[in-house]
Amino acid sequence: MRDQIFNNQSDISDFCFDESVVAVFDDMVKRSVPGYEAMIQMIGLLTRTYGQDDSNYYDLGASTGATTLALALNNQCKNVRFIAIDNSTDMVSQCQKNLVGKVNNLEVVCSDIKDICIENASVVVLNLTLQFIDIEKRADLITKIYHGLNNGGALIISEKIHVDDKSEQARLTDLHMDFKRANGYSELEIANKRQSLENILLTENSETHLKRLQQCGFRESTHYFQCLNFASFLSVK
Ligand SMILES: C[S@@+](CC[C@H](N)C(=O)[O-])C[C@H]1O[C@@H](n2cnc3c(N)ncnc32)[C@H](O)[C@@H]1O
Repeated sequence: MRDQIFNNQSDISDFCFDESVVAVFDDMVKRSVPGYEAMIQMIGLLTRTYGQDDSNYYDLGASTGATTLALALNNQCKNVRFIAIDNSTDMVSQCQKNLVGKVNNLEVVCSDIKDICIENASVVVLNLTLQFIDIEKRADLITKIYHGLNNGGALIISEKIHVDDKSEQARLTDLHMDFKRANGYSELEIANKRQSLENILLTENSETHLKRLQQCGFRESTHYFQCLNFASFLSVK
């Protein structure tokens, strides 16, 4: 279904991943996040490299399941369990519907990712999810993931980021707005969504992400992808 959620002048409340967003999520994410399809494709490729036999693959903030599906379609290992987690009940039921019959050994869990246990993991993905976690709680989450990963396993993070240079940031924001306009969003929709996400989606710069990953235990991390203000990082244990 086409995303028209912000196409009216009513009071703009904080963004939440409820039933109305679930219904349009796949359209929304493709028309709003430059490089989204490439992000998912790269996660699939990385799964082939870092997946391990007899391990768990985690998709944290799984939404409708696109990342979990990429993990499963690219898996080349034996005896692997796919664990898709989201704290939106509407997302979890859509994810379950989308993946049933397509992904074996699947668990779709409704939980806050800050409360779950990560164990025997070879691939953990936070695709556009960390940005919705309180900044001061991010290090604890990354540390937990580090401890739950097997040696040689990978954490993959994609985020909306910012840069500190004001004119460069303004250029990236303008280009992102152009991207949304080119994908059919009106000025009103762009402005309303921006307002709705203002207190919810908290960006950091690339250096902050890389420094935190190091402080949480990862000796090597790579900023391996960027399209406008959306970036992906790979950290290997
Ligand atoms: C932008 S979407 C993620 C997109 C998805 N990973 C993909 O690749 O298509 C963010 C998701 O994170 C979930 N989320 C946000 N905070 C969460 C938390 N604390 N625990 C679990 N899920 C969370 C939201 O419900 C939402 O479905």
